[in-house]
Amino acid sequence: MKRTLKDLAIFGGPAAFDEIRHVGGPNVGDRTRLIERINELLDRRWLTNDGPFVQELEKRIAETAGAKHCVALCNATLALELTVRALEISGEVIVPSMTFIATAHALQWQQITPVFCDIDDESFTLDPDRVAELITPRTSAIMGVHLWGRPCRIEKLTDLARKNNLKLIFDAAHAFGCSWNGQMIGGFGDAEVFSFHATKFLNTFEGGAVVTNNDELAAKIRVMRNFGFAGYDNVISLGTNAKMSEVSAAMGLTGLESMDEFIAANYGYYRQYGEELSGVNGVSMVEYDETEKNNYQYVVLLIDQETTGVSRDQLMDLLWAENVRARRYFYPGCHRMQPYDSLYPETSERLPVTEDLVQRVLLLPTGTTISSEDISRICHIISFAVSHGEEINQLMSAEIGTHAG
Ligand SMILES: Cc1ncc(COP(=O)(O)O)c(C=O)c1O
Repeated sequence: MKRTLKDLAIFGGPAAFDEIRHVGGPNVGDRTRLIERINELLDRRWLTNDGPFVQELEKRIAETAGAKHCVALCNATLALELTVRALEISGEVIVPSMTFIATAHALQWQQITPVFCDIDDESFTLDPDRVAELITPRTSAIMGVHLWGRPCRIEKLTDLARKNNLKLIFDAAHAFGCSWNGQMIGGFGDAEVFSFHATKFLNTFEGGAVVTNNDELAAKIRVMRNFGFAGYDNVISLGTNAKMSEVSAAMGLTGLESMDEFIAANYGYYRQYGEELSGVNGVSMVEYDETEKNNYQYVVLLIDQETTGVSRDQLMDLLWAENVRARRYFYPGCHRMQPYDSLYPETSERLPVTEDLVQRVLLLPTGTTISSEDISRICHIISFAVSHGEEINQLMSAEIGTHAG
């Protein structure tokens, strides 16, 4: 319990946690089942190259996502790159800046210009009206991001893409297990891309997948992920090595069997945070539409410093000192990172909603690696800090840049 300011770790008190509590602590599922699968793949001596576990995982992901095809890959960044390449996208692609840097890099890496577009202040995803303003003769696609698993304005973006003859891709890295309008994320646009990185709701250590209803596109990406091979000694296109290994697929299959448990843990904690922070003025939580399916993997706070007194960054530093590694996904926005900040220096002027949001977001730990007691303790720290907001702000402002990065 923090009773006085001196009890806060940032001012010399003991940290609330001995071990760091992370955002995105990995879900593991049934370890015995995982080890069985690893033994099975070792016995089979089929470790990679479109093995039986990868094939099974692809089938299960496609079924869960309601898409015709799933192509499993070594990560979502490569999945985005291959999708863009296979769709023969060039010139400019309209993307949000409020996303992980990989969304933009997947384009710029291939000499395609990411045209950063603002988001709307409700969904925090691409604002279709702003997208329409940015379409030029060089635009070949729109890439929406289902930020924190909350779906894009899918209907309007689909309309815009169709009317302007543009490809539509969704970076669904956060959105496996989520739905929009009762339909699972995975079947929209030309293709959607999931990430199965260790921090994601379902993980394959590292991994990703393209899901699509387009037969030709899926076939093309399959060839591309394997150096362009269409059969033994037969290379039919440029390709790379983006294959998923069997051990990764074993992890994914095991995780899938525990998906309901992962969601139940996340949902319970989402509700708990909501309740325990409800009386904290100036701190609100980004909500999920409970009439849809959600994975509830991200607990996102919005900090209004005018009310809390303490700034978002001060609150983060204060939590880090307590061993709670709260994160600012995605500060400061891709447009303010390199190479984009240098290449397109004027971008921030057209991104007022993004610029405001990146100053306010703070993500908290949730999921199977933490406990309900941990959450109460985290909420207590936040509530205590806000109740002494001005004082903390003054004390921390007096110190020189303590922020840990
Ligand atoms: C929105 C978004 N897109 C793409 C990626 C890249 O995924 P990966 O790490 O699997 O390459 C991530 C996260 O890691 C992400 O959060």
